[in-house]
Amino acid sequence: MDREKQRTILDLMRLKQDGRKITAVTCYDYTTAVLAGRAGVDMILVGDSAAQVLLGHRSTLPATMDFMVTITQAVARGAPAACLVADMPFLSYQTSIADAVANAGRFVKEAGAQIIKIEATAAYLDVIKAVSDAGMSVMAHIGIRPQSITKLGRLKAEGTTAELAYELIELSAAMIRAGANSLLLEGTAREVARLVTEKTPVPVISCGSGPDCDGQILVISDILGLADGPLPKFSKRFADLDAAVVKTIEQYAEQVRAGTFPDDSQCYHIKPGEMERLTRMLANTKP
Ligand code: KIV
Repeated sequence: MDREKQRTILDLMRLKQDGRKITAVTCYDYTTAVLAGRAGVDMILVGDSAAQVLLGHRSTLPATMDFMVTITQAVARGAPAACLVADMPFLSYQTSIADAVANAGRFVKEAGAQIIKIEATAAYLDVIKAVSDAGMSVMAHIGIRPQSITKLGRLKAEGTTAELAYELIELSAAMIRAGANSLLLEGTAREVARLVTEKTPVPVISCGSGPDCDGQILVISDILGLADGPLPKFSKRFADLDAAVVKTIEQYAEQVRAGTFPDDSQCYHIKPGEMERLTRMLANTKP
């Protein structure tokens, strides 16, 4: 069978060099991954936002390594040609360098991830270096870092003053020096995201950091219109699938209640002649 080749960091780099935008979505399950693969997105991130989108938690913090590996495997089966990025969940890399390398390696060995994403401040440059030195592609996630929610109290736009912008530009350069070969910039002022993208030799993916980055990513349930509650300022509904899904389930339930589903076309049947034999068998059975 002719299998489409899985995209890698090299494909993302080529898109940047050619000035073509990189398209990316998050995904957390096989069925949605098949659809994202059919839509031809370049990159799929199995984000720890799965803790919110799939499990209904208020933050990304409850995501565990075993859960993330399981859903990354499912997405890999559904979209084998997309560049698969796996997200290191809270406490999978903060505890030690050895934990970081071992957990990153699980995504590569057990799920076929091409790139490992790590939410990072300057305090994690050694983690970025260690994972990269171990032979893995690292995407440094800077700007808004949802795993720091309990420390910060709330998540707000980054790079909005000259000092904060300077710090972020310096941080992005330090991440590349440490070994990151792509960046994810979340919730960063557009002007600063543009500067980072211009100064950075590797692909810079924007999540809410404006149109001037090398690519864009959004949470899949947001773009499909399946999200529960209001979207962040930077996100956008491209469809209202929630209404279509509710209507479809209502129609199914109505037909079940009315007895019109299932009809005979959805039934299996006993083989010809077997009903007569069964009737005789039942008649001979002692009560
Ligand atoms: O976990 C996630 O889905 C992410 C994206 C929002 C970038 O980190």
